[in-house]
Amino acid sequence: MTTHTTVGIIGGGPAGLLLARLLHNSGVDCVVLESHDRAYVEQRQRAGILEQSTVDVLRAAGAGERLDREGLAHDGIELRFDRRAHRIDFPSLTGGRRVWVYAQTEVVKDLIALQLKDGPPLHFGAQVHAVEGADSDRPLVRYTHEAREQVLTCDYVVGCDGFHGVARSAVPDSVIRTYERIYPYSWLGILADVPPSCDELIYAHSPRGFALHSMRSPSVSRLYLQVPNGEDPADWPDERIWDELDARFAVDGDWTLARGPITAKSVLPMRSSVTEPMRYGRVLLAGDAAHIVPPTGAKGLNLAASDVTVLAQAFAHLKETGSAELLDSYSDTCLRRVWRAEHFSYFMTTTLHTDPAQSPFDTRLQLSQLDRIANSPHAAAELAENYAGLRIG
Ligand code: APR
Ligand code: PHB
Repeated sequence: MTTHTTVGIIGGGPAGLLLARLLHNSGVDCVVLESHDRAYVEQRQRAGILEQSTVDVLRAAGAGERLDREGLAHDGIELRFDRRAHRIDFPSLTGGRRVWVYAQTEVVKDLIALQLKDGPPLHFGAQVHAVEGADSDRPLVRYTHEAREQVLTCDYVVGCDGFHGVARSAVPDSVIRTYERIYPYSWLGILADVPPSCDELIYAHSPRGFALHSMRSPSVSRLYLQVPNGEDPADWPDERIWDELDARFAVDGDWTLARGPITAKSVLPMRSSVTEPMRYGRVLLAGDAAHIVPPTGAKGLNLAASDVTVLAQAFAHLKETGSAELLDSYSDTCLRRVWRAEHFSYFMTTTLHTDPAQSPFDTRLQLSQLDRIANSPHAAAELAENYAGLRIG
């Protein structure tokens, strides 16, 4: 069966769902094709921090009601190093910006509920296997849905299909440029049924490696610790995890890490990757389909949100004026912010993690950088502005 839409969206993750919501609100018709089923997409454990700009966009799009009710607004983070703790305050360093702890799973649930209630078509179980005609004025998407081959013709196709998606293949090898860095360590992430031992996130540099204390709610903690690449979560029984976290969060003073039953455990590798350009003809890329960041800077979800905010504005402009000028500048506009986020994520990752190959000299440099941030409002402001998020556009 062949159908037609203005914007064919491949992928029903945060990027695809938010783009569909923004286009719907601007009267631009679209269709979302998602290969997995709803339950799978909604339970996928991912990021947990929303920048101010992302929260602003979700609220403006009508998707902020539960976020405002259940999200945790945070005005800062704590850096730990050399057994010392130092708080970075966001509002005072960024003119009032803050961040929210609200899991990506919850953002996805809110956007799906909105779309199924009052939104454009969202097809689950729709596996896209080809994108054709990128350099024509009628690109098409071939997909399998309910055991039948389907074709969706579009004015434009947007690949929101993540790092392992198919849309990127629409950009010819002669045009595409990929920039990558693989890190020599991974994160072991856990969910635990225990109230967080902190009011705000703790990022810890330690001689044993990096650790992060985040959270999901007043009763659920989310923690990560640096492990070698290829580590098997099965080698980490609960007690070993808590003992290692205790050692890495060690700080002078009377702070203790509360323990509780670990309900989820997984190892995630760390990579930086950018695909340029983020557009070829009438196929555009957004979110993880175009770029990957190591999770240290909490940028992945927020970059996806900023891409689709710029893109939705470009499609609205095309509908209102007939001009494709904002679509033409989409890739350059987004890549400037992407590279800023890539650098910040790289900075947070390499400053806080212990590369197995690093020398004692390298470690002293890391501690000097952290000491600089702790003692200079200018250095702290640079971190705060990047973490709480730059204004979009
Ligand atoms: N056909 C249909 N859907 C596809 C295909 C395909 N061929 N390939 C991938 N998808 C779907 C995936 O099932 C997934 O739901 O595209 C979606 C991509 O979602 P994400 O990978 O979450 O990427 P994005 O929406 O850009 O969100 C970025 O998600 O992965 C995290 O850390 C990342 O927080 C960041 C956020
Ligand atoms: C999370 O809560 O999952 C989280 C928070 C901050 C990060 C990375 C992950 O930098």
